[in-house]
Amino acid sequence: MTQAKFYVTTPIYYVNGAPHLGHAYTSTAADALARWHRLEGEDVFFLTGTDEHGQKVEAAARAAGIAPQEFADRVAADFADMARVMNISHDDFIRTTEPRHKRSCQAIWRRLEENGHIYLGAYEGWYAVRDEAFYDEAETALRPDGVRYALATGAAVEWVVEPSYFFRLSGFQEKLLAYYEANPGFIAPAAKRNEVLSFVRSGLNDLSISRTSFSWGIPVPGDERHVMYVWLDALVNYITAAGYPDEAAPRWRYWPADLHLVGKEIIRFHAVYWPAFLMGAGIEPPRRVFSHGWWTVEGEKMSKSLGNFIDIRPLVDEFGLDQIRYFLLREVPFGNDGDFSRRSLITRVNADLANGLGNLAQRTLSFINRNAGGVIPPLGAAQPRDEALAAEAAALPGRMRAAMERLAFHEALEEAWRLIRAADAYIDAEAPWALRKTDPARMLTVLHTLCVALRALGVTLQPFMPGSMARLLDYLALGEDRSLAALAAPLPEGVALPAPAGLFPRVTGTA
Ligand code: MSP
Repeated sequence: MTQAKFYVTTPIYYVNGAPHLGHAYTSTAADALARWHRLEGEDVFFLTGTDEHGQKVEAAARAAGIAPQEFADRVAADFADMARVMNISHDDFIRTTEPRHKRSCQAIWRRLEENGHIYLGAYEGWYAVRDEAFYDEAETALRPDGVRYALATGAAVEWVVEPSYFFRLSGFQEKLLAYYEANPGFIAPAAKRNEVLSFVRSGLNDLSISRTSFSWGIPVPGDERHVMYVWLDALVNYITAAGYPDEAAPRWRYWPADLHLVGKEIIRFHAVYWPAFLMGAGIEPPRRVFSHGWWTVEGEKMSKSLGNFIDIRPLVDEFGLDQIRYFLLREVPFGNDGDFSRRSLITRVNADLANGLGNLAQRTLSFINRNAGGVIPPLGAAQPRDEALAAEAAALPGRMRAAMERLAFHEALEEAWRLIRAADAYIDAEAPWALRKTDPARMLTVLHTLCVALRALGVTLQPFMPGSMARLLDYLALGEDRSLAALAAPLPEGVALPAPAGLFPRVTGTA
C-alpha cells in the first residue's frame, strides 16, 4: 500500500504589519491538521510563509522609511518568530521574494501566455490597496465622507487607469462550475460554497494581472515595465514550494494540495482565480479550500484605527502556549466568527484544562506514584465497567478522525472531553482509594484502565497541545512511537513511571 500524502497550507501573510491573533489562528489550525495527519502515518507537507510584494507592502516600507526588501526581511523574521512561539510544525516557510518563487511565477506566466489566456489591454476601474483587489463599481459605495469603499471589506478604493495584462477569466466560467459540481467538497463550509457559486454563475470578467504604477513585484517576463498582480504572485507560492516548474521534483508528489486554509475574506481568490490559473496552465487544481471565520477582540473588530491588534506572544507568556492553542480551536466552531476575551480564555483554561484533563491526569498518576509502586499497574480480571471505559478510549481516535475530516476541531476536542468525563465518573464510582484496603488487585485494574484512557487522550490530543501531551505521554512512559497506531498495543505492565507534575496550573489572571 502506498502511503497517503497530505499537503496543507496557510495563506502567506502580508508583511505590511506585525503578526497578530488572526494569523496565529490560521497557523494553529493548519498545524493541528498537519500533526493529526502525521499521527495517522501520512506523508505530510505543511507550508506557511510570507506574501511580500505589492503596493501595500511597498507603502508600508515607504512609511517606515526603508527599502521594501529590508522591510520585508524584518517583518518576515517576525512571522517566523510567531510560528516558532506557537510551535508551528511547518515543513517549509516560503517567502515570495525568494529566487525560486520568481522563477516559478515567470514560468506559469509563460505557460498561460502560450496557452492563449493572457492579452495586453488597459485597466480602468477601482482598486483597494488594503485588499490588493479590483472591484466593480457595484461592489463599492460612496460614503458621506466623500470616499468610496469596497462593500465587502470596508477598504477604501481608488480609481486606477493603467496599461495592464489580463487573464481571460471569462473563459473559465463553465470549467469552474463543472469543477465545483464534480467536487462538492471543494469549497467549505457550505455557505461559502454557495457564495462562490453565485459569484461565478453571475458571470466572470477578465482579470487584470499586472501593474505598471509601482515596481515592487515580480517582473512580467518579456515586458519588464509591468510587475505581476500580487495575488497571482501570491497564489503561485503553493506550487513553488512543491517544486514548480520542475514537475520531476520529489516534492511535486504533494501537488495538488489537499487543503488550503484561508480566512473568509480571501475565499474568492482561492476558489475562483486560483483554480482558473491552474486550469489555464494545465495543472490540477487543489482538492479543497476551507474558509474560517474572524475573531473580534473583547467584542471589537481588530483595526488600525482602534489600535487593538493583539499579538499572541504576550498571551502565550501569560497563559501558556497549549492553553492558547486549545482555546483557539475549542472556543469557536471552525468556520464561524468568534470573540476573543480574557474572561472566556480564563474560564476555558480552568474548566477544561486545569479541572478537566489536568486534574484527571494528576489524580491518576500521583495516586499510582504513591499507592501502586510508580509503575504501570497490571490488569487483572476486567469487569464490564473497565471494559466500557477501555472501549471508549479505543473508539476515541475514530470519533476524532471523523470530526477532523470535517475540520470540526471543537467537535474532535469535545469527543476527548467526553472520555475525560467518563474517566472522572469511573474514578468516582470505582473509588480506588477505598479499594486500596479492600481489594488491592481490583485497585490495580482500575488504575491500569485509567492509564489506557490517559494514553488515548495523550496521543490524540498531541496535534492540539503538542508540548503538554508530550509530557503526559512521558509520565506514562510511552515509547517513541506516539502515533495512533501505537494505541493498539497493550500497556506494558510494570514499566516504571517518572514522578508526575501538574500539566495545567489554574490561572488566576484578571479578566
Ligand atoms: N497575503 C494574503 C494571503 C495570500 S495567500 C496566497 C493575506 N494576508 S493577510 O496577512 O492579510 O491575512 C492572512 C490570514 O489571516 C487570512 O486568512 C485572514 O483571514 C487571517 N486573519 C486576519 N485577521 C483575522 C482575524 N481578525 N480573525 C481571524 N483570522 C484573520 O490575506
